[in-house]
Amino acid sequence: MPDSDKTFNKEGLKNVLFVAISVCLVCSIVVSTAAVMLKPQQRANQEYDQKQNILRAAGMLPEGSNVDAEGHTVDELFSEFEVRAVDLKTGEFTDAVNPDSYDPIAAAKDPAMSTDLTQQQDIATIGRREDISEVYIRRNEQGAIDKVVLPVRGYGLWGTLFGYLALEGDLRTVAGLGFYQQKETPGLGGEVDNPMWKAQWPGVSIYDESGDPAVELVKSRSPKDSPAAKYEVDALSGATLTTKGVENLVRFWTGELGFGPFLKNLQGQSTA
Ligand SMILES: Cc1cc2nc3c(=O)[nH]c(=O)nc-3n(C[C@H](O)[C@H](O)[C@H](O)COP(=O)(O)O)c2cc1C
Repeated sequence: MPDSDKTFNKEGLKNVLFVAISVCLVCSIVVSTAAVMLKPQQRANQEYDQKQNILRAAGMLPEGSNVDAEGHTVDELFSEFEVRAVDLKTGEFTDAVNPDSYDPIAAAKDPAMSTDLTQQQDIATIGRREDISEVYIRRNEQGAIDKVVLPVRGYGLWGTLFGYLALEGDLRTVAGLGFYQQKETPGLGGEVDNPMWKAQWPGVSIYDESGDPAVELVKSRSPKDSPAAKYEVDALSGATLTTKGVENLVRFWTGELGFGPFLKNLQGQSTA
C-alpha cells in the first residue's frame, strides 16, 4: 500500500467517535466540577433567601429591599433570632436534631420522622406532618419574646404554598404572613404575594376566646367593632380555593397538630 493511503483520515468512523466521546467526557467533567464547586455557594444563597423570607414575614425587612430602614443587613437582623427545634407532639423544645441543618419538609417525607394525618386531621392537605419542626424566636432586651416565626405550608389550587407566619410576643397576634413558594395563578390565587393583600395580616388574632384557631378569610368583612372582625382577612377574589387553602393552613399550623401545643407552652415565658 502506498504511504499516501495511510494518512490520517479525520472523517473515519473511529475518529469521529473518538472526538465525540472525548468532547462529551470533557464537558461532563467540567459540568460536574462546576456543580460540586458551586454547591456551597448555592447553599449560602438558599440560606440567605430563607433569612430574607423570615425577616419579611416578621415585618423586619421592607418589600423589595435587603436592608431595613436603619440600614441593618439581612445577616445582622437575622442574628437577633434564635433558631430552635420543636417537638410538635409535646410542644417542647428538643435537641434531637440540629436546627441549623435540619429540614422539616424533608423529614415530613420520611415515615420514621413524621406522622401520617387522617383526612379529617389534614385540613392543610399536607399528607404527613414532620414530628419535629423549627421556630425562629426574637427576644427584646429584657428577654421577653418579641416575635416568633413559624414555617407553614398547605395546598392551594395548583400546589402547596410554603411560607412563614410571624406572631407578636403575645403569641396570638399575627405580625405577618408571607409565602416563598407557591404555584397559584398570577392575578388570582397568586395574589397571596400582593403586598396590599399581605398588609391586612398584621394585627389579626389567630385564637378565639376558647383558644381555638379562628382566622377566617371572608368575602365581606364584619363591622369593625364586631367581635368577629379581629379574625378576618379579605378573601382573594376569583380564587376561592386558594383562599380556603390559606385559611386552612393557618388554622392547621396554629392548631393542636401544628404549633398549638408549643405556643401554649411558650405563653408563660413570653412576658419575661
Ligand atoms: C385558568 C384558571 C386559573 C385559575 N386559578 C385559580 C387559582 O389560582 N386559585 C383559585 O382559587 N382559583 C383559580 N381558578 C378558579 C377556580 O377554578 C374556581 O373557579 C374559583 O376558585 C372559584 O372562585 P370564586 O368563587 O371566587 O369565583 C382558576 C380558574 C381558571 C380558569
